Amino acid sequence: MKIATVGDLHCKKTARGAFEPLFAAMAAAADVIVLCGDLTDYGTADEARVLAGEITPAKDVPIVAVLGNHDYESGEGERLKEIFSDAGVRLLDGDACEIGGVGFAGVKGMGGGFGVRALQPWGEEIIKRFVREAVDEAVKLESALARLTTTQRVVVLHYSPIQETVQGEPPEIFPFLGSSRLEEPLLRHPVSVVVHGHAHHGRFEGRTRNGVPVYNVCVTVLVRRAPGLPPYWLVDLDQAGTAGPQAGMTEPMTAGRPPSAESRESPDQVRAL
Ligand SMILES: [Fe+2]
Ligand SMILES: [Fe+2]
Repeated sequence: MKIATVGDLHCKKTARGAFEPLFAAMAAAADVIVLCGDLTDYGTADEARVLAGEITPAKDVPIVAVLGNHDYESGEGERLKEIFSDAGVRLLDGDACEIGGVGFAGVKGMGGGFGVRALQPWGEEIIKRFVREAVDEAVKLESALARLTTTQRVVVLHYSPIQETVQGEPPEIFPFLGSSRLEEPLLRHPVSVVVHGHAHHGRFEGRTRNGVPVYNVCVTVLVRRAPGLPPYWLVDLDQAGTAGPQAGMTEPMTAGRPPSAESRESPDQVRAL
């Protein structure tokens, strides 16, 4: 199975027609399309309706998606879920689905930081609530994975589960880009590949502590990696469970290959992630 993945389309109300070619290219190349959150820019129903129209060229290909932080900006997250679900998108929020014998588990995720420097639930109530949100997202991912019985399992996130794929961003904002708590379920359940977005200036690839490939498929990362090519990453699960080349690229990903170095770019505002 080939899966075309991309995140952070940040669809605006004025974007009508802008994404149709991308969806047509993904539909032509893949059996499934996966969208890793920040589908809209300000999280409005108007923006969601525009993107729902853009996926028309891919109407015959299953689309799996999670929402991102931008999709909640206007307090219309539930409405967005309805709009995308009505358009045929399988919106995962702690849910799992099976397509062609492959399992998909998806959740937005949350920030909080990585490793020993991760934010701990200590002190003020608001800090505890923040950490609880990250823990809850990890629990949702865990239960989604536990429901799957397939051999091949794809995990779809918006926030990163590892620090490696946020490298390249200013270190000061690492805690806003993901959480190690999201990695914990990935260590307890067999997973073929993980895709996420959110770190617009992060690194393309990394691995969990137990070696599962993790790809930051944020559209800006893909454009920077392969300028001029349609910005999606094609995961080929038939190639030993690892990922295949981005459309038009010739070098296949091989197990054990170290992450490629990404150039450091000027920092973006956290809100814009
Ligand atoms: Fe984001
Ligand atoms: Fe984003």
